[in-house]
Amino acid sequence: MSDTESKIIIAVDGFSSCGKSTFAKAIAARLGYIFIDTGAMYRAVTLYALRHGAIRSGIVDEQAVVGLLDRIDITFRFNPERGASDIYVNGDLVEGQIRTIEVSNCVSAVSAIPEVRRKLVAMQQEMGRRRGVVMDGRDIGTVVFPDAELKIFMTADPAVRARRRYDELTAKGERVTLEEIERNVRERDAADMSRAVSPLRRADDAVELDNSHMTVDEQMEWLMREFRLRSNR
Ligand code: DC
Repeated sequence: MSDTESKIIIAVDGFSSCGKSTFAKAIAARLGYIFIDTGAMYRAVTLYALRHGAIRSGIVDEQAVVGLLDRIDITFRFNPERGASDIYVNGDLVEGQIRTIEVSNCVSAVSAIPEVRRKLVAMQQEMGRRRGVVMDGRDIGTVVFPDAELKIFMTADPAVRARRRYDELTAKGERVTLEEIERNVRERDAADMSRAVSPLRRADDAVELDNSHMTVDEQMEWLMREFRLRSNR
C-alpha cells in the first residue's frame, strides 16, 4: 500500500472557539499529518476586504468582496516555531492580524458569500488531494470532504468558549470584555448555522466531542481510539 493510500482525511468541524485548531494541530503533530485551518482562510479574505474598502463601518459590500477575489492569493508556509503553517496573502504574512475582534465581527458575513466559499473550498480540496491532512472548519465533513474517513464534530458550552477566546486575546494584549466576546461567539454560532450556503451542521456520520470539561490529553486519548477504528494501524 502506498503512503497516500494508507493516510486518511480527518475533518474537524464545530462551533467557533471550541479549541478545534488546538486539537486539530495536536492530531496532525501526533500522526505526522498536515494541519489546515480553513477558518484562517475565511479570515484572510475578510482582512483583505477590510483593507481594500469592501467592508466599511462593519458593513460588508458583497459585490465588492467578489470583485476582489481574483486578486487574493492565499498560501501557507510551515513555521517550525509554532509547529503549524502561517497564512500569507499575496506573499504578506497575515497570521498575526486575522484574529482581531474587527475581523471576527465581519468574517461570518464574508464566509456566507457563495463565490468566497467556492474559491476556498476548491483550494481546500486541492490541499487534501494527497490525503494525510487534518482540516478544521465548519463544512469539512459535509461539503469539502464528504468522504473523509474520520469526521469529528466539536462542541463546548458557549460560556466556556467565550472565556477561552477572552483569555487568548487578552494574553495577546487586546483590550476586550468577556461580554463582547460571548456576544460575538453566540452571534457567530447563529450566523454559521443559519446561512444559506454550507451551514454549520454535524455530518450524519460524524462523531461528537464535547470538550467543555476535557483536557487536550483526554481529547487525544479519545481521538486515538477513534483513529485506530478507522485506519489500518
Ligand atoms: O474557525 P474560525 O473561528 O477561525 O473561523 C472564522 C469564521 O470562518 C467562522 O465564523 C465561520 C467561517 N468558516 C466557515 O464558514 N467555513 C469554514 N470551513 C471555516 C470557517
